[in-house]
Amino acid sequence: MAELLNALGRRFSCRQYTGEPVADAELNLVLEAGRIAPSAFGMEPWRFIVVRSPAVKEKVAAACFDQPAAAGVPLMIAIVALAGVLEPGSAYVEARLTAEAGGQPPPRELREAYRGMHAQIDPRGWAIAQCSFAAAQMMVQAASMGLATCPMGGFDEAALARALGLAGGEIPALMLALGHCGEARGERRRRGMDEIVTGI
Ligand SMILES: Cc1cc2nc3c(=O)[nH]c(=O)nc-3n(C[C@H](O)[C@H](O)[C@H](O)COP(=O)(O)O)c2cc1C
Repeated sequence: MAELLNALGRRFSCRQYTGEPVADAELNLVLEAGRIAPSAFGMEPWRFIVVRSPAVKEKVAAACFDQPAAAGVPLMIAIVALAGVLEPGSAYVEARLTAEAGGQPPPRELREAYRGMHAQIDPRGWAIAQCSFAAAQMMVQAASMGLATCPMGGFDEAALARALGLAGGEIPALMLALGHCGEARGERRRRGMDEIVTGI
């Protein structure tokens, strides 16, 4: 029963990596964990870029201020928020709502509910928030296989978008370092349950 909780407990943000490469089979499982992540309205407003090319990695690391996890890791996954396709009625939204409706034309109520939601959100922040679910699932999958990760939100957005070759409307949501950890993990410090949970 606590199997998943054990994997969650093994995850921590690793900043020093060995040079050992991540096997393709392992990488694919991490990507799959992201692919099947939940998103509001099944919108999946993300795409993932696997950064392995040393030349691109160098530019990406620089955009991440050469912080240790970015500079020393052999592989990174860019989680890119698709903020520019979320307009109601766009081909992308129609395709996703059709999928959400089980492959049928989306019912009017679903379209209206999406339109109502869209009117209330900042599409950019909304898309980035959805990407967090994909990132979290990837990190837990990696931890369950003994791989280390570090989520990185500390970057120069414009420089990172350039390094990744993003199109307009595509926003870097998070960089994920993925590899074999080369440091001892520190002590986990979290607020206590009594501080964060109330009943009502
Ligand atoms: C959205 C987000 C952005 C983060 N950005 C960075 C970052 O840029 N650099 C870094 O070293 N750690 C980053 N972290 C890792 C946090 O510092 C770390 O999760 C937190 O200190 C708790 O430690 P743990 O992950 O080892 O449990 C980020 C975490 C999240 C969730």
